[in-house]
Amino acid sequence: MDNSLDQATDIVVEAFANTPNLRLRETLISLTRHLHDWVREIDPTMDEWKVAIDYLTRTGHMCDDKRQEFMLLSDVFGVTNLVDQLESRKANDGATETTVLGPFHMVQSPRRDLGAAIMSPKVGDPCWVAGRVLNIDGTPIPGATIDVWQADDQGFYDVQILDEVDVGVGRGLFTADEQGSFYFRTVVPAPYPIPTDGPVGELLMATNRHPNRPAHVHFIAEAQGYHSLTTHMFVEGSDWIEADAVFATKRSLVVPFSWVDDRTSAAEKGLPNPHREARFDIHLARMS
Ligand code: BEZ
Ligand code: FE
Repeated sequence: MDNSLDQATDIVVEAFANTPNLRLRETLISLTRHLHDWVREIDPTMDEWKVAIDYLTRTGHMCDDKRQEFMLLSDVFGVTNLVDQLESRKANDGATETTVLGPFHMVQSPRRDLGAAIMSPKVGDPCWVAGRVLNIDGTPIPGATIDVWQADDQGFYDVQILDEVDVGVGRGLFTADEQGSFYFRTVVPAPYPIPTDGPVGELLMATNRHPNRPAHVHFIAEAQGYHSLTTHMFVEGSDWIEADAVFATKRSLVVPFSWVDDRTSAAEKGLPNPHREARFDIHLARMS
């Protein structure tokens, strides 16, 4: 057995060589090589390595069925965004760009009728959101489901302020009509910081990084025979639009939330005049 520094990587690669599952084997061997290269480059002391192990241990201890600190860590390293981009380039040619799911899709969105308010339009800038679910050629997809969730005008999701609001506020599950259209009332969301009370917050502090995400509304669109699509609509002009803490902003997803001054249309929509309006069409790719 040659356990020299030169052989330290190859003997581990060799140990994984009989892994029956090919994908697992390739993954572990590649991970070993990259991890060893990284350790050789950094050349840490054992005390430094223990700091890293302790950091990962505390990251794990922060996870439960409501909090996924490892995913948040992946988010701030841009890895969640990278995996999403790699995966969607294969399946969704011509479809709306995807982006990260995030940690706040943790409760079921309540079913709502088209035109319903997902949160009271009285607190914040009242807003009408409308769009269509279409295939990549522009043909409407009637009956598509659109799951929506967003923070309020102070940047809080319902699950962060359950002493103030009921669960389901700022969320809605809609079914598109015969034209593939969906529409609802809401308020314009505010930018907000990702959770910073755990090891990820520590990392951001230690590296002089900010925790903020630009204002956005989350969407998951699904229809029979199509790839389901997870994305956001970003508020044009929002703070942090060029500096998302989790690197998940895409230019094609940035949408104007314009003021509209039209009494008749406001009355029809059940919104005060003036109010803001945003349009967001979602293109889905067919499964082959
Ligand atoms: C979100 O948009 O809800 C989110 C995404 C990634 C990390 C934290 C929050
Ligand atoms: Fe979000």
